[in-house]
Amino acid sequence: MTITRARPKRECQSLEQDVISIEDCVQSRRLIHNDLYHKVTPAEVSLIRRSLLDWFDREQRTNMPWRKPAMPSGTYCGQRAYEVWVSEIMLQQTQVATVIDYYNRWMEAFPTIYDLATADLETVNKLWAGLGYYSRARRLWEGARKVVQEFDGCLPTTSKELEKHIPGVGRYTAGAVASIAYGRQTPLVDGNVIRVLSRLRAIGGDPKKTNVVELEIAAALVPADRPGDFNQALMELGARICTPSKPNCAACPISEQCHALAQATIQKRLNADAFWSIDNKKRKWHHDCKICPEILSPMETDDYAVTRYPLKVDKKPPRDEECAVCIIQQTSDKLNEPVYLISKRPNTGLLAGLWEFPSLELGNQATTYNERAEQVSVFLKNRYNLDLHSGKVERRDLGNVVHLFSHIRKVYHIEWIILEGAIAGTGQWMTLAELKTAAIPTGLKKAIRLLEQYQKV
Ligand code: ADE
Repeated sequence: MTITRARPKRECQSLEQDVISIEDCVQSRRLIHNDLYHKVTPAEVSLIRRSLLDWFDREQRTNMPWRKPAMPSGTYCGQRAYEVWVSEIMLQQTQVATVIDYYNRWMEAFPTIYDLATADLETVNKLWAGLGYYSRARRLWEGARKVVQEFDGCLPTTSKELEKHIPGVGRYTAGAVASIAYGRQTPLVDGNVIRVLSRLRAIGGDPKKTNVVELEIAAALVPADRPGDFNQALMELGARICTPSKPNCAACPISEQCHALAQATIQKRLNADAFWSIDNKKRKWHHDCKICPEILSPMETDDYAVTRYPLKVDKKPPRDEECAVCIIQQTSDKLNEPVYLISKRPNTGLLAGLWEFPSLELGNQATTYNERAEQVSVFLKNRYNLDLHSGKVERRDLGNVVHLFSHIRKVYHIEWIILEGAIAGTGQWMTLAELKTAAIPTGLKKAIRLLEQYQKV
């Protein structure tokens, strides 16, 4: 039996038209769209605002100490801005559950922006230890000093000014502080929001290149009333419902407006259609859209789904860097326990201002232990005036630990060097207990764990 189908009258949806119906798509066996497909109509804007805020009022997590009732727009609330700023910077590091303890400890130590501004960087780093990216802690501290010195202790109230004047405050953080603390009608996009919006409007382009489109959608959606709650609702929806690999569309308050979900439904219908299935491989989704540069072809299974958005782009692999780390141990006469040589990194650059074991950067060259051992002897003599050839010295290769930075895969080769009898040398010495509470990079915490394992055997 031959199946013939009439061509649908409309091929593209436009803002004046309703969303193209699933029936039309199934009938024509085509999903056709142009740029307008990625916008939100005024009717959708009000529906999405209402549904999302209602959901947030019902479902928001209540265990976040920085979350407080929204202030009326235009109210100046500097203390709230400081709290939101700190929490948002911490939330860029790790998940909510981990941030809560860090946030509470931070606020106990630096309850106001003045307390942070007058603290020393060492104390700030200590409270940040374990969160990673210490440069963020340093910029918070620098920002607080600037706000106290130049802005009379009051963080600017618009996202433009925040971004312009405050170190470490980028577009996202500026949007968060302006909307959540000051009630400004300012959009924000972070990874969660990009995911939600790219699905909501089925944006098929590389999110790195299309994020302006997502920001435009966020700007169209954010309401004048409760903008901070709305922004937080979007982020929370991304974190809890519209998750990267297992979105719970059944629980999503804006699923009816979601183009990605509509496409998934169309695909299911098409796959159940024998005529389509035979023809399937030859066809592509037709479109006339500059936002989705690639024509997304239909999938052959029902897996064609919401998780197709945002587009996954191959990431550049991180570059390899090698580093020789020397855990140099002496037994202190005074304390009668081992102490370890450490020094402070420069105040700028990677891991600025943190303590570290003497470390020799080796670039990306692969080295043998013997080659490294020779280079390390020269390095320790030059830098620390430590002569490993005088006195009794035991050297042990502990293997390596790997730490991933955003763009660097760092291999730390750990050597345990035990000095028996005092050997002159310049530098500061700490006990293991002191080291554990000092601000040291996460990679070197792994080195300490490795040492402890060896000391046990
Ligand atoms: N992720 C980052 N900041 C957030 C916030 N304020 N609410 C919910 N999720 C977030």
